[in-house]
Amino acid sequence: MPQTQIAVVVGSLRRESFNRQLANALCRLGPPEFTFSQVQIDDLPLYNQDDDAAPAEPVVRLKSEVTAADGLLFVTPEYNRSIPGVLKNALDHASRPYGQSVWAGKPAGVIGVSVGAAGTALAQQHLRNVLAYLDMPTLGQPEAFLQAKDGLFDADGGIGPGSRTFLQGWMDRYVAWVKQHTA
Ligand SMILES: Cc1cc2nc3c(=O)[nH]c(=O)nc-3n(C[C@H](O)[C@H](O)[C@H](O)COP(=O)(O)O)c2cc1C
Repeated sequence: MPQTQIAVVVGSLRRESFNRQLANALCRLGPPEFTFSQVQIDDLPLYNQDDDAAPAEPVVRLKSEVTAADGLLFVTPEYNRSIPGVLKNALDHASRPYGQSVWAGKPAGVIGVSVGAAGTALAQQHLRNVLAYLDMPTLGQPEAFLQAKDGLFDADGGIGPGSRTFLQGWMDRYVAWVKQHTA
């Protein structure tokens, strides 16, 4: 079966990150013809335009992984009502040098979990702004704003029963969105 490759970008470097747990659990809701792989962003240097001509190895790796992907899945916390710097750093790296962005045209989904009741809503809105500029068609609905609470994940690391139907519906719409943009 031909596989649709999804590059997953998690906007937290924290060891016990809820967002990484969410990314892992969400990927299990995908269909068998979809393969999800998390890209590594914790070894990227801080973006410096002086380095455009000779990018560091992790930058080359990130750009080649995004290039090889059919779609992107961003799973991010909210930091101070925006996206974490580590995520913006990765977005900036793979958008440069000017004219050599690898993001353009890749269908994307945006989701996140936060300890706050607003569930990353503002971070997602900021991220959508950046993705629009990067020319990435991004799934608009359903929106998913998740709060980290007991029961969000089950003992096996899957989505808990209270959120499973909703998040399966989200994944189904995301899969349809990616297929629509890669057909
Ligand atoms: C620097 C910083 C800023 C934060 N700002 C917000 C915020 O604006 N909104 C929010 O809901 N939670 C905020 N939080 C709390 C995060 O939701 C919480 O740390 C969450 O666990 C981060 O996601 P992670 O578990 O994937 O690392 C912030 C946390 C940090 C460390």
